[in-house]
This record gives sequence, structure tokens and C-alpha cells, in this order.
Amino acid sequence: MTAQPQRPAFGTVLASHMAVATYQAGQWGRHAVVPVAPLELSPAAHVLHYASTCFEGFKAHRRADGSVHVFRMDMHIKRMLQSARQLVLPEPDPVQLAAMVREVIDRCRDAVPEAPGALYLRPILFGTTANIGAAATPATEASLLVLASPVWDYFAGGMKPLRIFVDDENTRSAANMGMVKTGGNYAAAMGPTLAARAKHRADQVLFCPGGMVQETGAANFVLIKDRQLLTRSLDASFLHGVTRDSLLTLARDMGYGVSERVFDIAEMLEWVKSGEAALSGTAAVLAGVGTLIHRGQEHSVGGGDVGPLTRALRAQLLAIQQGDAPDRHGWLQPV
Ligand SMILES: Cc1ncc(COP(=O)(O)O)c(C=O)c1O
Repeated sequence: MTAQPQRPAFGTVLASHMAVATYQAGQWGRHAVVPVAPLELSPAAHVLHYASTCFEGFKAHRRADGSVHVFRMDMHIKRMLQSARQLVLPEPDPVQLAAMVREVIDRCRDAVPEAPGALYLRPILFGTTANIGAAATPATEASLLVLASPVWDYFAGGMKPLRIFVDDENTRSAANMGMVKTGGNYAAAMGPTLAARAKHRADQVLFCPGGMVQETGAANFVLIKDRQLLTRSLDASFLHGVTRDSLLTLARDMGYGVSERVFDIAEMLEWVKSGEAALSGTAAVLAGVGTLIHRGQEHSVGGGDVGPLTRALRAQLLAIQQGDAPDRHGWLQPV
């Protein structure tokens, strides 16, 4: 067996170039692709004080024939526009944003790793208006960047079943902000996540406000059993994952029953006695849960290992993303 090369951790390396556009006097200016460099920003910039910022994250995949394909960029751009609206930030022009992404991929083509690696794309929008008295005034100037980062296999060390702390005391966001991909939500999840890590050796926290299962700090949550899939129905309280949507579509294609509804911790704990649980998101695709920790008790999920249905769904999505299975839903665009 050949040794795995040591790869940088997810997100720690940026590709050489980024795309930049600025919004002033009521309109977006032309964008440019430039070498990655520190930004010039007023210390009074709106984002630094009032957290007027949102972002996206998705991947472009290199195929064996060298071609590069971006996965469901339209959905991520749509979500970015929705985040901007909710935060009263200038909305990016979706046509311009798509062009910025394509130009960054093209410029950084050599940095797209072989599968199972990918080029992770990170658009970020933030308010730049210089005004420290704008607590109730939206930013009228903004910057939109698209960064790229080569990422390698999230599971280079093997698919380790995750330990998840079930939290029915904290929330990861304000009730109306869950579906917005904004830094403040991640800041809110940080404290509970670090505490659960220190106290329970948990990898992630599953937020369950009011005892109802919602999502983790950076991924959606699904239950799988007997060719049935259960996940929370869409509402404003959590992020509408593109991976979640893709997996539900594939599950239906594969003849699974799919149920989207609100369910509580008790039902989840009953389900995992013989079923599977997994986290879904762009970074990890579908990551199996081995243990749920709730009120000081450890609940083994299935046999405590990553389950066969989780592996099958994950493999099917990866095969499509990497061009090894047909793209029946038109999710991939060549760049
Ligand atoms: C809070 C949260 N939920 C869910 C997801 C999954 O979303 P997606 O599948 O679009 O990556 C992410 C990751 O982006 C996330 O940060």
C-alpha cells in the first residue's frame, strides 16, 4: 500500500487568484480577476461592526480526462442572493457572480486537484460603508469576492463515524437567520461546539431547539433506515443545503422513501437503535454518525459504524460529481 501524501487541512490554502467587484452609487462595477492579496478596508467598515456579510461554498471537480465541472453553482448563487436580501446587503448580479466564479476556475485551472480532491469556491459579500453609527442603517457600499481553495479528500484517514452532541439548550442562530449563510451563525455555534468537544469528545453539535432536531454547526442532518430517509422539512430556522437537496433527489431516484418533516429527539433516538444517521454538506458530502450523546448518555447509531445506506448514497453522489455516473439532473457545468 502506498502512503497517503500529507495534505493541507480543508480551507487552509488559497489558489493564486480571486475575483473582485465593488458596489457603489447604487450599482456593481466591473469585476476583475487579480492575484490574492490583503484587502484595503476602512476600520469603520460596516461589516467589522455590524456583521453585514454572507458567503457560499461549493466545488468544481476535475475528471480523468482533465475537464473541470462545477456542481450546482446556480443553487449556491440563488442562496447567496437570498442571504444578501435577508441581511439588507446589495444583491450580487447572478450573471456577474457566475462569470466571476468561472473566470476564477479558469485562471486557477492548474490548482484543481484530481478526484477525490476538488477546487472549493468561496464567494463572499460584505458591507464596506465607513460608518460606525450604522447599527440600524444598511451598508450602501459593498465588496464581492470569489476565492478558490484546492481541497483534498475530507476522509483521507478513512471514514470515521462521528460523535455528535445533541444540544436542546442552545441555538445556532436567531430564528429567522438560520437559512442565511452568514458568519454570525458560525460564531454563535462556536462556543457550544468547543464545549461539547472538550466535555464529550464530540465532533459536532446537533442543535435541537425546543427538542426538535434541526442541523449541526456546518451540515444538515439526515436519518436513513430500511430504504427510508427522514430529514427536517425546510423552514427559516436552518440552512437549506444543496447537498441535502441532491441527496434527497438521488434517494428518490434510487427508490427510497423520503420524508421531510419536523421530528423530535425521542424519535431520532428510537430511529438510530437500528437505523443510520449522517451529516450532509459540500465539504464532507455525507458523513456517517456513530454515536449520539444526549443528557450524559451515549446512544450508539446502528452498530456504531458508518452504515451501508450512508455509504451507498455518498458513493452515488460522488460518482455523479466526478463524472463516473450520468448527470441526469444537469447538476454539472463544464468550465
Ligand atoms: C450550517 C450549515 N448547514 C448545512 C450546510 C450544508 O450546505 P451545502 O450542502 O449547501 O454545502 C452547511 C455547509 O455549507 C452549513 O454551513
